[in-house]
Amino acid sequence: MKNRIEDLKKQLEEISIESAEQLEEFRLKFLSKKGQLQGLFEDFKNVAKEDKPLVGNLINLLKNQAQEVYNELKDRLQTQEVGHEKSIDLSRPVEFSHQGARHPISVVRKEIVDIFNRIGFVISEGPEVEDDFHVFTALNFPQEHPARDMQDTFFIEKNPDIALRTHTSSVQVRVMESQQPPIRTISPGRVFRNEAISARAHCIFHQVEGLYVDKNVSFADLKQTLLYFAKEMFGEDTKIRLRPSYFPFTEPSAEMDVSCNICGGKGCNVCKYSGWLEILGCGMVDPNVLTNCGIDATEYSGFAFGMGVERIAMLKYQVKDLRLFFENDKRFLDQFSGAY
Ligand code: DAH
Repeated sequence: MKNRIEDLKKQLEEISIESAEQLEEFRLKFLSKKGQLQGLFEDFKNVAKEDKPLVGNLINLLKNQAQEVYNELKDRLQTQEVGHEKSIDLSRPVEFSHQGARHPISVVRKEIVDIFNRIGFVISEGPEVEDDFHVFTALNFPQEHPARDMQDTFFIEKNPDIALRTHTSSVQVRVMESQQPPIRTISPGRVFRNEAISARAHCIFHQVEGLYVDKNVSFADLKQTLLYFAKEMFGEDTKIRLRPSYFPFTEPSAEMDVSCNICGGKGCNVCKYSGWLEILGCGMVDPNVLTNCGIDATEYSGFAFGMGVERIAMLKYQVKDLRLFFENDKRFLDQFSGAY
């Protein structure tokens, strides 16, 4: 018995294995139910009583040693395989690597700007921190207008007033001050209002302002330009409707609705069963504004319009809560990853 144990121990120490098949042979020979170690355990009952503690111990040691040798050989074989060229599967699909994408507000802003670019409107930009003249006075806001109130506007300094612009109409003023007609410009940008944040309002949002000044610009030009925009943005079947309104810087002024692109005008909860969605403010530039900006109001006329990018994005993608655009939750943003 002792000889058999010694013999197996020697074999164990001299073992060399090159392949998975050899490893399996080793396992069968030493460790399986029909293997040699098991044979030793079976013959153990015939060992003389006084030898049993010693022999039993030897067999157990041998069994542990065999198991260790097996584990080690198996590990070595596996690492060799991984490092081996043959194990690289070139036909495997490439692993998906996560790519960033444009924010939905950037997508919609670009779409709006592109639509107007196609009919000759060029981009202009202005500062976010503005003086009173460009945000209010030049745009014909009376001194006592509520927008000039601290409740609505974030002031940086008082007397002279410096504020975060409340609308991109301030860029109109800057363009007209620095250029003579014909002017055809589109001004995207961030605006700021002292408002409580809710599903429908935020203190920071985005607008796009449009301005066209030339000889003989009429309300019909405004209407046709906006109809073109609505069809490009929301689809060929879109209809528009202009409702009389008031803005200090336009006369006459209007608000524009588009036919609801969700129910097709039949009425649904998004359009509050009216069939129409309000998307922008517009009008003919008030002659006072032209004069304030150094443009001869007897020679030139113009139209202007302004829209909220978040509002258009909410309608286009049926987003019910404006705050989602500002939270940067990846689960939300990922839904727009193919948008542009
Ligand atoms: N500035 C307006 C606002 O923030 C939007 C607007 C209305 C712009 C009429 C215009 C316009 O140019 O003509 O609500």
